[in-house]
Amino acid sequence: MATVKKAPLWRLVGLASLRAVSTSSVGTFPKQVKIVEVGPRDGLQNEKNIIPTPMKIKLIDMLSEAGLPVIEATSFVSPKWVPQMADHAEVMKGIQKFPGISYPVLTPNFKGFQAAVAAGAKEVAVFGAASELFSKKNINCSIDESVQRFDEILKAARAASIPVRGYVSCVLGCPYEGKISPAKVAEVAKKMYSVGCYEISLGDTIGVGTPGIMKDMLSAVMHEVPVAALAVHCHDTYGQALANTLMALQMGVSVVDSSVAGLGGCPYAHGASGNLATEDLVYMLAGLGVHTGVNLQKLLEAGAFICQALNRRTSSKVAQATCKL
Ligand code: HMG
Ligand code: MG
Repeated sequence: MATVKKAPLWRLVGLASLRAVSTSSVGTFPKQVKIVEVGPRDGLQNEKNIIPTPMKIKLIDMLSEAGLPVIEATSFVSPKWVPQMADHAEVMKGIQKFPGISYPVLTPNFKGFQAAVAAGAKEVAVFGAASELFSKKNINCSIDESVQRFDEILKAARAASIPVRGYVSCVLGCPYEGKISPAKVAEVAKKMYSVGCYEISLGDTIGVGTPGIMKDMLSAVMHEVPVAALAVHCHDTYGQALANTLMALQMGVSVVDSSVAGLGGCPYAHGASGNLATEDLVYMLAGLGVHTGVNLQKLLEAGAFICQALNRRTSSKVAQATCKL
């Protein structure tokens, strides 16, 4: 009997036919979404065993091949705090820089900024928090001190024509303080936008939020920062990341952070799991007819590569489903 070669479900139904589904019943969405792939940084920073640099470089190159427009490559943080990111300069040197793709890196202070620029970074990201305790644990300073540090980076970055993205962590809850008010998130987001961050990524660092809380938080932030300058960054600890992201899209957000294979976590937010899986985000957006420019098949290959390298099962439902078939 001839064996029937099974195709992945999404191929069987076809992304084109998924696109045909009317979205009128579920609200309006941006025509296009910019995906910020944070896997090589957020995804790998939490790994205990040091990952060989060539493996990190290969992952980033595969993500570039898949057409991700922004790939956060590494962090110029203290190697004493996050040893996994100590090879930042080698990673920046080794990756292929595809035209049209941005490879931002995290810089917590001026020292990190200078090192990032010396290593060839053309975009950086600063990271603060809406929680005083998280700020202290993560970057060893208060929120106000962090904004002063960012201001110093932003002045130098402006002079060097380097765009700076800003993260606000703990927007839907904090591992040390618990609930965080939408007003506090709005206040910190406004400060970071005022000092010159061109985009503010709102992080549900521990993945505790639900769509209603996301809506309240975004409503408050949108009074202070234009929605076009906002991104969401949802960790998936409680399985809410895709739902929370959908809520943000319905509210007009068009930049979404995600991580290949759903890798990720923060060394200063114990118990938090990975980010929203990029594969699942791309699949959902394709189904909604929202353009991302990402090749799902190549993205799945990048996810399979890094999971095999880390000897880990993917957290992407789409990858799991296509693997079974
Ligand atoms: P500190 O200990 O207060 O720094 O750390 P310091 O200024 O007192 O300096 C102490 C030593 O660190 C000195 O060296 C400095 O030179 C060195 P020594 O004289 O002892 O030999 N140092 C550095 N070395 C390399 N690169 C640097 C640097 N700065 C100082 N940039 C610091 C302060 C901010 C550096 C530290 O707290 C740190 O590196 N924190 C980073 C923590 C981190 O990476 N967390 C994860 C990323 S954030 C995240 O995941 C959340 C996000 O995904 C969004 C979300 O999910 O919500 C973005
Ligand atoms: Mg994160």
